[in-house]
Formats: sequence, structure tokens, C-alpha cells
Amino acid sequence: MPRPIRKAVFPVAGLGTRFLPATKAVPKEMLPVVDQPVIQHVCDEAEEAGIEHFVFVTGRNKHVIEDHFDRQFELEETLKARGKTDVLEILEKYLPVPGHTSFTRQQVPLGLGHAVWCARQIIGDEPFALLLPDMLAHGKPGCLSQMIGTYNEFGGNVIAVEEVPMEDTSKYGIVEKGRAIDGAFEVTGMVEKPDPGTAPSNLMIMGRYILQPEIFDLLERQPRGKGGEIQLTDAMITLMDSQKFYGKRFDGRTYDCGSKTGFIAANVAFALEREDIAGGLRRELAGLLGC
Ligand code: G1P
Repeated sequence: MPRPIRKAVFPVAGLGTRFLPATKAVPKEMLPVVDQPVIQHVCDEAEEAGIEHFVFVTGRNKHVIEDHFDRQFELEETLKARGKTDVLEILEKYLPVPGHTSFTRQQVPLGLGHAVWCARQIIGDEPFALLLPDMLAHGKPGCLSQMIGTYNEFGGNVIAVEEVPMEDTSKYGIVEKGRAIDGAFEVTGMVEKPDPGTAPSNLMIMGRYILQPEIFDLLERQPRGKGGEIQLTDAMITLMDSQKFYGKRFDGRTYDCGSKTGFIAANVAFALEREDIAGGLRRELAGLLGC
């Protein structure tokens, strides 16, 4: 059995310019999908997969993320005084175990590879999960749980992938698919945001990774790549020389919450799963769509 995955990194330093003015004072990771911030959904996915330690790579103006994962005594006292035990229970349920969260800052916006590298001291010498909160994975079991299944069988590094229309391949990291193995496949190549018409497949890297700690040394030396940023994909390509990478086709649906359409679609998809909301929402949608 490979070494267990105990820690997960959440890069949350991005500015969220695509959602201005909503994200002027509120981090994009705190925008709600139904009644939970996006980041909470992603942490739930990690917790379901057995993650114990949650490492957030934050930036300026992101302190409310830290507050979200802490107690709010005034609020709790007020709810207690009003007898709102149901809401109190929800708050309690989502409170992390003391000492199981870490926050570190990416001081300069040098890209995803740099953000991950900022977590190296907290992760140390063990394999870890990486979850990009922009991408909401909707599936049962969750995406990271599905990946852990592949990891427990084969070890190495695991990347979750999902098909995208060929014309969208230049927006994402894309993998090249090799030999099929039990429920997954060997990754034989990767490219970050390939130029139109050059993608090796339509399998996008959808923002969920299980990585070996050797990635940190490579990130330290990684020159800037696409967009002048330090790209995680480029460091993974180098790591492929010495370690195996497996692709796991996520059995579910990913919503790119970095785009407005994806974010709104995620809200609808998650709401339609909720018994308390689904019926009313279906009627509203049917009315709006005239069907
Ligand atoms: C990053 C990764 C890319 C991946 C994408 C998923 O890109 O570099 O490989 O496909 O996340 O959201 P970014 O969205 O930071 O440009």
C-alpha cells in the first residue's frame, strides 16, 4: 500500500478579477454555491477522501477564508440565545479539528506552480493532494475519493481528467492518454494550455492532483512558462521522467466556477440535489425556460 494521503493544498490566492465587482471585498472562494462557500464544498470533498490537514495558500484580502474556518463566538451565542440549535449544529459540523488547518501566503502572483511550492514546508516529505477551488467536482463518491482508489492500487502521481470540447482545450492543461489500467490510464504526456489544434487529446486536467513530494524541488527550479507564470504542469512533465503519472477519468461532472456560466450552473446542479430546494427550483426553471 502506498503512503497515505493526509494533507491537501488549496491555492486560494487568486484575485478573482473575472467576478468583479462581486469579488472586490469578498474572495472568489467565498462566493456561495447554494448556501456554502465554494471553498467549503472543496474541503468537504477532501474530508470525504480522508484528508486530515488542510493547507491554504492565501494572499492579501483573503483573511475571511481563515475566519470561515474558525469559531464565531458572538454569532454562536446569539444563535444559542435564540434556540437556533439546527443552525448551530451546521456550524459545528463544518468546524475543522483544532490544529488541522494551516495558512501560508503566496506573496507574489507567480502562478499555480509557485503557489504549490509555497506549501512545501507544511507538506514536508510526504505525498499530498492538491485541489483547485475554481473547479467544483460534482459526483458520488467525490473526485478525490475516486482518485485515492487509483492511488491505493498503483501509487505514483494521479491526475483527474474530464473530456472537454476540442475547441476548449487551449484553456486547460491537457494529458496524452497511454495504456489503460484498472479504472484509469497511464499518462504519457501533458501540455499546459496547448495552442488551438495542437492538443494531444481532449482530456483536461480538471484541478485535482495527488502528487509526490519530489515535485517541490522541481518547482523550485522551474522557469516561467505559459503566461509568464511558474506552471505546475511543466514541473509535472519533468517529474514524469522519474515517476509514474496516472489519469483518472472523473466519474461525475466538473463545473468551472472561474467562469460565470460554470458558477451559475454549479449552483443549479448542487441545488437540484437538495430536497429542501429542488422542487421549488425546478418550477422556477421550468417557468423561466417556458417548458
Ligand atoms: C490550472 C492548471 C491547468 C488546469 C486548470 C484547471 O490552470 O494550470 O492545467 O487545467 O488549472 O482549472 P489555471 O486555471 O490556473 O489557468
